[in-house]
Amino acid sequence: MRQLDKASAFRKPQKRTIIELYPWSIKDSNGDGKGDLRGIIEMLDYYEALGVGWIWLPPTFPSPLKDRGYDVQNYFGVHPDLGTEDDMKELIREAGKRGMRIMLDLVVNHVSDQHPWFQDVLKNPESEFTGCFVIRQPGESISNHISIFGGSAWCELKDGRRYYRTFDNTQVDLNYDDPRVLEMIEKVMRYWFELGIGGFRIDAVHLAGKTVQDCLTDAEPNKEWTGHPKSRFALHHEAMTEFRPGTFKILRRLGEIAGDYDGAVIFEAAPPDPADADGYRRMYDEVDIRYAAPIYFGLLFIDWQAQKVKGILERMLDKVPPGATFLPHLENHDRTRFTSRVGSAQAFVGMALVLGMPGNPLIYYGGEIGMRNARHPRIADDPSQAPGDFVRDRARTPMQWDDSAHAGFTTAVKAWIKVCGDYHLRNVKRQEANPRSMLQFTRALTRFRNSLPELQEGEFEWLESGNADVISFRWRLGDQQVVYALNFTPVKQEAKLPRGLTTILLSSRRPPNSWNGDESVTLRPDEALVLR
Ligand code: NOJ
Repeated sequence: MRQLDKASAFRKPQKRTIIELYPWSIKDSNGDGKGDLRGIIEMLDYYEALGVGWIWLPPTFPSPLKDRGYDVQNYFGVHPDLGTEDDMKELIREAGKRGMRIMLDLVVNHVSDQHPWFQDVLKNPESEFTGCFVIRQPGESISNHISIFGGSAWCELKDGRRYYRTFDNTQVDLNYDDPRVLEMIEKVMRYWFELGIGGFRIDAVHLAGKTVQDCLTDAEPNKEWTGHPKSRFALHHEAMTEFRPGTFKILRRLGEIAGDYDGAVIFEAAPPDPADADGYRRMYDEVDIRYAAPIYFGLLFIDWQAQKVKGILERMLDKVPPGATFLPHLENHDRTRFTSRVGSAQAFVGMALVLGMPGNPLIYYGGEIGMRNARHPRIADDPSQAPGDFVRDRARTPMQWDDSAHAGFTTAVKAWIKVCGDYHLRNVKRQEANPRSMLQFTRALTRFRNSLPELQEGEFEWLESGNADVISFRWRLGDQQVVYALNFTPVKQEAKLPRGLTTILLSSRRPPNSWNGDESVTLRPDEALVLR
């Protein structure tokens, strides 16, 4: 059913899984309490053993960190807390030696108010960079748009000028009506590609293509909005500013540049309904699929029920054009940890699901050991926080390496953020020693992806499990097949199996499943089973 494109940039390296490493929270190499690039270099053998091929780093650029780096001050450098450009070069080199490519995070919708262009605008009402932003002169009309982080989208300067921001008031939106903006972004891409990175994750690009006129056009108020000024669901402006024709113009250009370097671009651009397959299809149709693809957000929001999950995935995979890649994920730095959402046992099922899908699945650091949301992280200045909202820092706590202080993340007395309380029990060291751990399970799943010919060269297809609580699919190459059977419930379930299977490759449960070669299997509670 689905033939993967062998020429695509997404197939090099052969290990196709992408891991998101939140650079502040992986490993602190210099004892300042913050994660850094040298810390990541130290842990590269671990990531090699995990079987991932791509490392996506959320923004690593100099930044005042009002939004943890998504407020870029200078795109041509490395944040001093994270290291130096030489460290980045070494990371690229060392990752390359292990068959992994580095993906940086490119913020295209806005810059920090500390960026030199905006600093010039602040100082000089006649600044030549005025046109690079959406700026209104004193007395000029504005619209009713509301920021995703709360409050009016228009911020007033001391002299009465106003500028447009979609996120924090220190994240100033760029205006792509001005050609200098895209030129600057192109330069940034070429700069890093020439240093050897393999690609970019593009931040919030669905909002980047708006025109000044779009920003100025009033939106219908959102009737569900509670009226709380910080409510993030007051997104009534987005219909006016997202997925404008400019978004696709930008994406096409970024894909072309990536193509010059045989690089890959994955982008954050969820449709209003994050599972809307047609919305993603439109994006695929607009970009060069050899180099660019949208990250799929449907699994982050769906009720964790077999039929619902299968339904959205089936619809989505039908829409992924031949030759394009698919980018499913369960968690990221903005959302709740998957284990906290579905529980430890179902976390295995989720991992088997995404790592069994076609394309380039993404995992979030710590997902491989089932890390949970922390209850009481030191809450950083997260501007997106609003009463009742999920505090994003809960899912950004230090990687849990062992059971020493700060889970082995830092030797500092105090880490920038508190470690999650369960680290004594849930850590890499412990899971290395336990053949039944989530870590060993994840490694086995990536090993299948990376080495079994069925998954490498074969075709993916859904199977009819005969049970609404079990998702089943297979990878087939000639008369060889690898079958995944996933029980989404905490009770036993019967499921049909295709003919011709002889071996159990992996189960999330012990002791071994008592399957005896029949064309059906009794799955234990929460069992994820892989057969060949
Ligand atoms: C999406 C990023 O994932 C999020 O962390 C950030 O706050 C916004 N874009 C704004 O850049």
